Amino acid sequence: MLFSDEENNIVIAEDAYLLKGFLLGQGEPLLLALSNVILQAPLRHMVTPGGYNMSVAMTNCGDWGWVTDETGYRYSLRDPVTNNPWPVMPEIFKKLAIDAAKSVGFNHFEPDACLINQYSVGSKLSLHQDKDEVDFSHPIVSFSFGLPAMFDFGGIKREMPKIAILLEHGDVLVWGGRSRLNFHGVRSIKAGEHPLLGPFRFNITFRCSH
Ligand code: SIN
Ligand code: FE2
Repeated sequence: MLFSDEENNIVIAEDAYLLKGFLLGQGEPLLLALSNVILQAPLRHMVTPGGYNMSVAMTNCGDWGWVTDETGYRYSLRDPVTNNPWPVMPEIFKKLAIDAAKSVGFNHFEPDACLINQYSVGSKLSLHQDKDEVDFSHPIVSFSFGLPAMFDFGGIKREMPKIAILLEHGDVLVWGGRSRLNFHGVRSIKAGEHPLLGPFRFNITFRCSH
């Protein structure tokens, strides 16, 4: 059941919150910073350990970047495409991620990793857990931009019931604590045209990886 807490955030599960429109006033500088990162570390379709090409195009910024290839999932200090360190995490990304976490009671969030996902129409992300990090006491903070998406948020086991949440441009999700390892995924993106981002959805997730 969805309900609002005292700050008007929407509680989607234990220690998991939807901050509707949290980023709306900051769209322009955020998207500028995003395009800068992508120029330095291009979006690419990574390969899963099972040998599948992901439909979502990804890149990273921050000290550590999440990567996958035939050998598995891991955090890496270098971009395997350019062999350079990942671009520095833009200050505005970091500040807003920390502010979002704080606004729902996670007061010690210091992200060292930021994964950028680009969804074109028809891209999806299958149900998974974020569990490649060392310390699960930190939450995951996720920013959404561009085309809307249906996001499924489940429980600690894959087969547990899920709730579907509409994520729109400017929304933030924060999940941690008792929900930190909950399964989640993004359904296939429907055709559309966003005024700023065209036929794409971007998601930026912040993590403490180490
Ligand atoms: C993720 O689970 O890494 C991305 C979630 C999203 O795109 O909303
Ligand atoms: Fe995830």
